[in-house]
Amino acid sequence: MGDEGKRRAAEAALELEEYKESEVVGIGTGSTVAHLISLIPEKDFEEKTFVASSMETALSLKKRGAKVLEGALLDKIDIYIDGADAVDGEGNLVKGGGAALFREKILASMSDFFAVIVDESKLVESLKYKSIPIEVNPFALSYVLRKLREMELRGEVRKAGSGKYGPVVSDSFGIIVDLDASDWKEGIEELDRRLRNIVGVVETGLFIGMADAIIVGGEEAVVRKLSRRRV
Ligand code: 5RP
Repeated sequence: MGDEGKRRAAEAALELEEYKESEVVGIGTGSTVAHLISLIPEKDFEEKTFVASSMETALSLKKRGAKVLEGALLDKIDIYIDGADAVDGEGNLVKGGGAALFREKILASMSDFFAVIVDESKLVESLKYKSIPIEVNPFALSYVLRKLREMELRGEVRKAGSGKYGPVVSDSFGIIVDLDASDWKEGIEELDRRLRNIVGVVETGLFIGMADAIIVGGEEAVVRKLSRRRV
């Protein structure tokens, strides 16, 4: 199928009433979002203001002529649209494949409506079998890795594939650690709570009860609106 599913999901997001009526739009990071950015109608760049979850997205938006604001200037946005690495049956997500999870979680939290755009390959039964990224303050890295071992989780510092030796450093200057939580015995919410309790963990890539709509692009795009639980 290639990228068709991602493109269909992105197209459907732009048809949401919540997007059409929005004034301030948050845009996430990744290849699905790249489709979204290329599909945004020209007139929207005159009418709407954008905020980006990463420098990459900010630059792509700017290239298309968008007005892009810094997140620090905003306390609320109308809609946030982003991809995900995995989505379970309840609409919970794993995010952070592009190392932007911290800013992504801030934008999702400050949004009135959070729409997730994915292709069918992202649908999973349980999030714990996916690699779960966390962002860690560099000063706390060894301590956090020790605490993860104590929780019997395997944590791997993410390394750049090319162009840089050593750890991937996020746009917020954190180190990304990818977790194998497949042996975790308790629920995913408890995992998230325990991880966030470790001093030095800046954020986790678990987005639990945050999405308002999951748009899955396949042969067509299926939009599923969820009732927000917001934890
Ligand atoms: C970036 C993310 C992305 O949304 C996630 O990795 C999905 O990316 P793609 O659309 O390329 O599959 O969380 O931090």
